[in-house]
Amino acid sequence: MNRRAFLAASGSLALANAVARRSRAAAADKPALLGGKPVRTDPFPGWPPTSAPMEQAVAQVVRSGKWYRNGNVEAFEERYAEMNNARFCVATSSGTTALFTSLGALGVGPGDEVIVPPFTFLATVTVVLLHHALPVFVDSDPETFLMDPGKLDAAVTDRTKAVIPVHIGGNVAELDRIGAVAESRKIPIVGDACQAHLAEWKGKSAGSWGTTGCYSFQLSKNLCSGEGGAIVTNDEAAADACFAFHNCLRRRSGALGELQYRGGRNGNFRMTEFQAAVLLSQLPEIAARAATRSENAAYLTSQLREIPGIRPAKMYEGCTRNAYHLYMFRYSAEQFAGLSRNGFVKAMRAEGIPCSPGYDPLNKAEFIRDALSSPAYRRVYGDAELARWAERCECPENDRLCAESVWLYQNVLLTDRSAMDQIAEAVRKIHAHAAALASA
Ligand SMILES: Cc1ncc(COP(=O)(O)O)c(C=O)c1O
Repeated sequence: MNRRAFLAASGSLALANAVARRSRAAAADKPALLGGKPVRTDPFPGWPPTSAPMEQAVAQVVRSGKWYRNGNVEAFEERYAEMNNARFCVATSSGTTALFTSLGALGVGPGDEVIVPPFTFLATVTVVLLHHALPVFVDSDPETFLMDPGKLDAAVTDRTKAVIPVHIGGNVAELDRIGAVAESRKIPIVGDACQAHLAEWKGKSAGSWGTTGCYSFQLSKNLCSGEGGAIVTNDEAAADACFAFHNCLRRRSGALGELQYRGGRNGNFRMTEFQAAVLLSQLPEIAARAATRSENAAYLTSQLREIPGIRPAKMYEGCTRNAYHLYMFRYSAEQFAGLSRNGFVKAMRAEGIPCSPGYDPLNKAEFIRDALSSPAYRRVYGDAELARWAERCECPENDRLCAESVWLYQNVLLTDRSAMDQIAEAVRKIHAHAAALASA
């Protein structure tokens, strides 16, 4: 055996020994659900983050009496565009209205189709329905939890008006392959980066790829203001159209408040000065938080992937930064003596590790079926087309993914290695006692 082969063999042996040691230790402890001691009793860091500068910034807005686009919103738009490698930013009242505005600005309406992934928060689809367009689902890649780029082209028709890749959990969709299809079929990309603050594809902000990228600042998000959203874009015509759509047809540039009276549908989807002040006060801290999440996530992955039946979400090669809004993994009940996924989540929570089952299959959601069976949809699309819809939108990989997915929240990653060790220890303990837990 040469030196390299010897080192590799002894390294693997050491790793195998360490894994065996950890498994024996896990077997010796009783799960908390069966009367043992929880792995963790300390709470994870609270959310949202607050600070004295944040309080001062909000107080200043209160005292100013100027609560509508008066400096803070514009300053945030400028900073956020810059942070996202984008020329323009339009701040909105929420992630939902950022997406709704983007589609409205692109002229999406009744009779159009918009392609979406099924593993996402319902708002990705709600905005399509609000424009009376037809959501068309493309199955998930179970390895990454993201839209399968290889299945996109087949979903495009001459009615397709946009595709919404979602960077779910902060993991970045395969933007090269999605971009190639979008370009060849001439369909704009509206990126749903609502969970992907600071995430990057090939070193550039995930939201900067495509016609627009949409963010959410809802309370749980890595950058938050209770509610809020933003559209980033490098396309000046899209910036103008989004601004007009979200601000009752006012012009983005030109005299303040000037109405252009052109551009069709519109509304008030503006961000307030309060939200912008809260967001501006957080900007100095978000890069350090993102680095902590990435470091802890990488370490946690190295621990979890040793455990049979646990498969952390992979990243595509072009994903140079995952925002880790969620730490997502697949759980295989077969490898845990038949302990159900929900049983696993319950056992983890009892160990002091907050986690959650992932999304239900969105392509099967009742609210979509209700919308599609409404008189308006039936008039626009016709019964034959709507009857075909469910078949077109079958997503078998996603059905399995939804049954197996588990996630941890971003604040769990704002800790240190010892907390990650505790998470892995809890999973090992549950694995070692899975049969007892399954029959309890
Ligand atoms: C993937 C995704 N899209 C859209 C939204 C909608 O954002 P908001 O809640 O700010 O309207 C969210 C928010 O949770 C989201 O997670």
